[in-house]
Amino acid sequence: MPSTVILGTGSYAPARVLTNAELSTMVDTSDEWIRTRSGIRERHIAAPGESTSDMAVHAAKAALQDAGLAPTDIDLLVVATVTPDLVLPAASCIIQHKLGLRTDTACFDLNAACSGFVYALDTASAMVASGRYKKALIIGVEKLSSVVDWQDRTTCVLFGDGAGAAVLGVSDQPGVGLLGTKLGAYGDCVDLLYITHGGSDNPTTPESIAARNHCIRMKGKEVFKIAVRAMDEAARDILEQQGVTADQIALVIPHQANLRIIEAISQYLKLPMERFYVNVDRYGNTSAASIPIALDEARRAGRIKSGDITLLVAFGAGLTYGSALIRW
Ligand SMILES: CC(C)(COP(=O)(O)OP(=O)(O)OC[C@H]1O[C@@H](n2cnc3c(N)ncnc32)[C@H](O)[C@@H]1OP(=O)(O)O)[C@@H](O)C(=O)NCCC(=O)NCCS
Repeated sequence: MPSTVILGTGSYAPARVLTNAELSTMVDTSDEWIRTRSGIRERHIAAPGESTSDMAVHAAKAALQDAGLAPTDIDLLVVATVTPDLVLPAASCIIQHKLGLRTDTACFDLNAACSGFVYALDTASAMVASGRYKKALIIGVEKLSSVVDWQDRTTCVLFGDGAGAAVLGVSDQPGVGLLGTKLGAYGDCVDLLYITHGGSDNPTTPESIAARNHCIRMKGKEVFKIAVRAMDEAARDILEQQGVTADQIALVIPHQANLRIIEAISQYLKLPMERFYVNVDRYGNTSAASIPIALDEARRAGRIKSGDITLLVAFGAGLTYGSALIRW
């Protein structure tokens, strides 16, 4: 099979920045607590009326421009999100229309929470490598501000909004592009990070809204422990699978949930923090958007050079995990 390569990337964050100082006027918290426990200083919040699909379109246009392609060149769109505009239909269909993609473009959403972009990369790569699709657009996008409980200090300080995108195609050059992926999930941990209402088990009711059961609930300490283990294992598995050693990785782009989780992975892999791209301080946790925003920033900042090996590694609600190795 030919190798799949990333032809372009793009990202977008809403203009509105919510600082820790402002949050501490909303709930009983402080800049000091948030910074020391999570590394987060501020996050972006979608404007009133700004939808998930709007943010996705901004990131997608930037990725298409970076790839030198037109919307009509795309024949596959995969959107990773847990906060689609609507429950039905898929955000990808709304984005397809807003972007002006062809009507013979395959469109679907994928929910793997914060691992969503790595899942989308793996899925779209396989579809492109098969030859049945030529150019894929993959987007990780979230409007988590719409499902955060702004009265719950244990979660509301952690999340933010944004979008990141990448365009995939094939290359005849051997040994470049997506070298491999490792995906998985601990389905026994669904009760660690979840939204109880609004799904088919518990449709929304006036009572559920009053109790804010349409919002994210999380057992933070438990998630932290499993996240570190899952990311470390996912990273080691993909390195072993591809016969690559940790010191050969030029840059790790981890899911940006918490600086302390990233520091723990750095210690476990015995790779200095200089080799990790970190922007959690400026965005908070943007779930499926976190890795593609970081990837786009890293590329545009010149942190990724031709021949470099980049490791993407993520975990999220599910609990899902995923890793990917890319040679540029
Ligand atoms: C959420 C998280 C930052 C909390 O950090 P922690 O060190 O585990 O803190 P704890 O939950 O033990 O809380 C410590 C204390 O701070 C309090 N606290 C919680 N949130 C607070 C806040 N925003 N401001 C001030 N105090 C807060 C708690 O109530 C607790 O008080 P207590 O000791 O009196 O009960 C951390 O557990 C974490 O990052 N977990 C992973 C979450 C994650 O990544 N989720 C996304 C997955 S994709």
